Amino acid sequence: MKIDILTLFPTMFEGVLNESILKRAQEQSLVQFNLVNFRDFSLNKHQKVDDYPYGGGAGMVLTPQPIFDAVGSLLKQSDENARVLLMTPQGERFTQKKAEELAEEKHLIFLCGHYEGFDERIREHVVTDELSIGDYVLTGGELASMVIIDSVVRLIPGILGNKQSYEQDSFSTGLLEHPQYTRPYDFRGHQVPDVLLSGNHKKIEEWRRKESLRRTFERRPDLLTDVHLTENERQFLNQLIQKKR
Ligand code: ADE
Repeated sequence: MKIDILTLFPTMFEGVLNESILKRAQEQSLVQFNLVNFRDFSLNKHQKVDDYPYGGGAGMVLTPQPIFDAVGSLLKQSDENARVLLMTPQGERFTQKKAEELAEEKHLIFLCGHYEGFDERIREHVVTDELSIGDYVLTGGELASMVIIDSVVRLIPGILGNKQSYEQDSFSTGLLEHPQYTRPYDFRGHQVPDVLLSGNHKKIEEWRRKESLRRTFERRPDLLTDVHLTENERQFLNQLIQKKR
């Protein structure tokens, strides 16, 4: 996968892209990052990239020319169809489902803005997707793009050792992940649930699914509306609801 990142602050990305799994992904040539300072594309003699909003008002707006030309030049260098992703609190809420969809692509271009906003023609004629990482406002799109890149790249086949390690993730199953334990069995008087030491894989799977349901019910009941449940699981959930009353 090729990932181009258009930003006025490329050094913000150095630590994040060059540690841990993202670093390894680059070393294994599974992903290639390309940081582009779109100020370099400005035809203005002072390399300006923003201007006052028509109609007045506070703040500055990113002008179309540097971004149109930067994206145009990246698309010319590649034969694949790229997704051009604009980071904005006005965008579609980013989810694990969207991460899975983007992990299938060959070429992603991230647009990170600062200031008050983007000229609307960028949205209309350059961008394919507008994404928000949550209902709060950041100083710019850089942190949002790092969050999205991190969650997409870990899904590229070959990056995580064990496919199961993401198939069981919270949200991938539609539920939050079950609790996990490791050694020691007894830590300062707090013991690991015995079923996990039973060696009975069917029982362990049942326990995990139930705990996953319990955790989702307690913390994120909104997720339960979209999950397919067996009759047994439905009964278990009803018990949880009764207990709460
Ligand atoms: N830029 C500023 N705030 C943002 C958010 N919540 N998500 C994505 N991009 C942003």
